[in-house]
Amino acid sequence: MNSAAGSGPARPVHEKNLSADWNPESWQNFPALQQANYPDPQALHSALGKLADLPPLVTSWEILSLRDQIAEAQAGKRFVLQGGDCAESFSEVCSPLITNRLKVLLQMSLALVHGLQMPVVRIGRFAGQYAKPRSADLETRDGVTLPSYRGDLVNAFEFNEEARIPDPQRLLQAHAYSAMTMNFVRSLVDGGFADVHHTEYWELGWLEHSPLAEEFNKLTDSLGQSLRFMETLTGRDIGSLRRVDFFTSHEALHLPYEQAQTRQVPRQWGWFNLGTHFPWIGMRTADLEGAHVEYFRGIRNPLGIKVGPGMNKEWLAGLLEKLNPGRETGRIVLIHRMGESKIEDHLPRLIKAVEETGSPVLWISDPMHGNTESTSDGIKTRRFRKIMNEMELAFEIHRDSGSRLGGVHLELTGENVTECTGGARDLSEEDLKRDYKSTVDPRLNYEQSLELAMLIVRKHNQGK
Ligand code: PEP
Ligand code: CO
Repeated sequence: MNSAAGSGPARPVHEKNLSADWNPESWQNFPALQQANYPDPQALHSALGKLADLPPLVTSWEILSLRDQIAEAQAGKRFVLQGGDCAESFSEVCSPLITNRLKVLLQMSLALVHGLQMPVVRIGRFAGQYAKPRSADLETRDGVTLPSYRGDLVNAFEFNEEARIPDPQRLLQAHAYSAMTMNFVRSLVDGGFADVHHTEYWELGWLEHSPLAEEFNKLTDSLGQSLRFMETLTGRDIGSLRRVDFFTSHEALHLPYEQAQTRQVPRQWGWFNLGTHFPWIGMRTADLEGAHVEYFRGIRNPLGIKVGPGMNKEWLAGLLEKLNPGRETGRIVLIHRMGESKIEDHLPRLIKAVEETGSPVLWISDPMHGNTESTSDGIKTRRFRKIMNEMELAFEIHRDSGSRLGGVHLELTGENVTECTGGARDLSEEDLKRDYKSTVDPRLNYEQSLELAMLIVRKHNQGK
């Protein structure tokens, strides 16, 4: 199956289960949902050819390191924080937006490390989160029908024909923008931006006016006085903590794009998606007989699977069997997104279903996607109270089921936007009109994100 046969580390038992008929394009023999229709197949072919020649965005050893860290999270030794935009856009690949997003993730992880007393795995929804699933292929406005916006990877948001026709050049642009984002994140982290001795670098201008300022400042003071506690917790010296890791993730929706980034590497067996560390599969494309599941089963990256209320026992068990036949640890992260009104009805049965399979998974909670609603003015929003309730219920349900919630998956930004209502400043529906920037789902703003991190700590430690 691969040219690196015989070299490198021993292969796990499951490799013999990988059918010999898998290859990066075998998904093409299965029905693929949510794909773009390009009017010029030749232009698509040549863009994909170029993409396949470009250098990768991440490395196999980073991917394997993330797998190890997810395995540790499964064992209760780490907590996963996955967050970022619902959809990145090309126009927002700029320095302040990237640094602010990094700052909020760093601050949240600091609150989590401190409060949970365990290392945090930081995974950004960035450097490639450019494709979106849509409920319809076409959108009609005032009698004009055009292809739906599928994310900057495919077409542009503006509602005119030129913008909405899928453009294969965007695949190359997305790769370049992802590389720029990665490059900047890596340089910031390497340059000391993420140094835990200098949390002042992570401050955002508006923290001092925030109702949360006092709580957060107490936390950083206490960290400043006792950096040594981390040494004890992680078993590593303080020096190595100067550098914190960031991993990338995106929904691997656009299969030709993912295929072009799927490679073999020297001294490793198998195939890796080198376009991201952690691809996830949405429920809309998680059909057991579909192209996405076929693609995902053949790559060695750790995989996220979104799990909603419509998932049943057989489907979930089937996914685990196909995607992790060798029952390896660190391979599967189940991201449940139920909605606060449905989580109590559906999560317990799904936890039980997974337990019956005996397959190891990490459960993390996405309290965003089941709680989207529209205001009377037709603005898409989420209420902070519902997000918080779902997250708190997730902790309780896992605890009551003898399972463990090992992380959270959030849509957030480091900007002071007004997209979700509620939170410490109690944003109202009226406030949404002030600073609403998202073209897709509403995100937690900086303060709401930090507040949620503090609530996660409180809830996690309850009943410990
Ligand atoms: C998303 O994560 O942006 C998304 C579309 O989620 P879901 O597939 O869970 O609705
Ligand atoms: Co979203």
